[in-house]
Amino acid sequence: MEKLIKMLSNTVGDAFIKCGYEKNFGNVSASDRPDLCQFQCNGALSASKKYKKSPIRIANEILELLKKNSLFESISSAGPGFININIKDSVLADYLNNMSRDSKCGCAETDKPLTIIVDYGGANVAKPLHVGHIRAAVIGEAIKRMHRFLGNNVIGDVHLGDWGLQIGMVISELKRRMPELPYFIENYDGEYPITPPFTIDELENIYPAANALAKSNDEVMEECRKFTFDLQMGNRGYIALWKHILDVSVNDLKKIYDSLNVHFDLWLGESDCEKYIGEMIEYLKTNNYMYESNGALVIDVAEEGDSHNIPPIIILKSNGATLYSTTDLATIWQRIRDYEPDKIIYVVDKRQSLHFEQVFRCAKKTKIADENLSFDFIGFGTMNGKDGKPFKTREGGVMRLQDLIKNIQNSVLKKLDSDKEFSEQEINNIAAKVGLSALKYGDLSNQVTKDYIFDIEKFSSFEGNTGPYILYTIVRIKSILKKAGAEKNYCVTHLMHEPKSLYERELMLKLSKFNDSVEYSTYENAPNKLCEYIYDLSNAYNRFYHSSKIISESDIEQRNSWLSLSSLTCKVLETSVDLLGIEVPERM
Ligand code: ARG
Repeated sequence: MEKLIKMLSNTVGDAFIKCGYEKNFGNVSASDRPDLCQFQCNGALSASKKYKKSPIRIANEILELLKKNSLFESISSAGPGFININIKDSVLADYLNNMSRDSKCGCAETDKPLTIIVDYGGANVAKPLHVGHIRAAVIGEAIKRMHRFLGNNVIGDVHLGDWGLQIGMVISELKRRMPELPYFIENYDGEYPITPPFTIDELENIYPAANALAKSNDEVMEECRKFTFDLQMGNRGYIALWKHILDVSVNDLKKIYDSLNVHFDLWLGESDCEKYIGEMIEYLKTNNYMYESNGALVIDVAEEGDSHNIPPIIILKSNGATLYSTTDLATIWQRIRDYEPDKIIYVVDKRQSLHFEQVFRCAKKTKIADENLSFDFIGFGTMNGKDGKPFKTREGGVMRLQDLIKNIQNSVLKKLDSDKEFSEQEINNIAAKVGLSALKYGDLSNQVTKDYIFDIEKFSSFEGNTGPYILYTIVRIKSILKKAGAEKNYCVTHLMHEPKSLYERELMLKLSKFNDSVEYSTYENAPNKLCEYIYDLSNAYNRFYHSSKIISESDIEQRNSWLSLSSLTCKVLETSVDLLGIEVPERM
């Protein structure tokens, strides 16, 4: 469906043309002063400069043409030349009826679908997921869903950290603990065991031990680097061990991401581009892009006009080892080859922004990526504790993601209505969903780039701008529809009549802006804008609900009209939370 503001802009724009001005001066936007009008057009003010006429004269010419137009309830000029617009209730009601019939509630799919890879999640194998990873998963999932909803071909890739130093560390610790394993026997040419020599719990204990030791002992660190290098050079035993680490770890990660309702299309990682590194280096050499600096091979990526120093990107270290920048560049190489993307969106901690700046510039400069491929870096801020420092456990350690989820679910459990007769299983299910909504919405409702304070009490509250409040509104509407026997007619609309109250009209107006809000949130990569929208919508619904006695209304047409309005609100809210990756419980 065409957006309502687009429809209005068209009509007003045509009037500008008829009066001899450019069409885009007729652009209409939502009003800054909802107390005065619903929509406004400021074009007369901008046109006045170009056409050297007073804005009020231009505005009045436009009004003359539009005052009898069937879309408008009223159209008037204000101040120096603003045009204030209210639309007819019947126009609004028709628009909502069309929305109700549309499977995407009025959101049109793009006519130029792009192939978009969303690189998010970014878990590192062998290391337990910590709270820092929650943002990458939650924001990335929402970004992926929104772009897909608008008709793009979107591929989500977890891009595992599976090729770095942490693997060398695990190998070195395993060797200390179990030197007799065949993986460590030089020139061993037999088969390696099929079963991994550790469980996930052991693995999660091996890495921190190795990390602590390596950090306090230079020799051990050097050894870990050597293991990593030998692995990357194809040492058979280490490759076999690495495969075990990957199996055990990925199995566990899949469960965790599943429980978060985060789903990747691709489970690729840094190691998957390994096979392309050789040809990429060849390409860079042949075309003379690299030069030697202190033994390493580097490429300059600084550009004229840079406001800060952008150092050269290192492609190969002096010992021939590859780095994070090498794998990211080779991953672009691989993605172009396998998926021909138009865009790659990276959802990563903003502290990595320099790294990505270097990688993107290098990909463009070396023509690995042509001008048709664009890169978006969505760098997110840190999740902090109430002390303003990165979120920690009470003991001061790094909080594991699963513990965090448990905490928030417990907090929700305490708030759930104990009067309702939920079975133990149902109540746990509800707490799981509502808890996740608290966590995800608490994250997504913040502007992505900003650090925010993780506040369990606030996020899990059933009142205010929180996930549980939104879910509660949805569940409330569902229960109204059920009581009224209207559930089955969920998508069927009874013609909506003119609103009976101010609150009802406000709700209708808010609903009509859904497609605009989804488009904006998607193309600005700003899930917080969609959160803002559904919070306002929920408030609008709850005000309407308290002002109208829906179920006991005796005028059947009126009642049906209100039920349709409720059902459309429910559908819009459900669609929105689904775009945010949030699941709705049946009851709560
Ligand atoms: N594994 C990385 C980390 O934990 C994040 C990966 C992000 N994606 C990428 N293409 N580099 O920091």
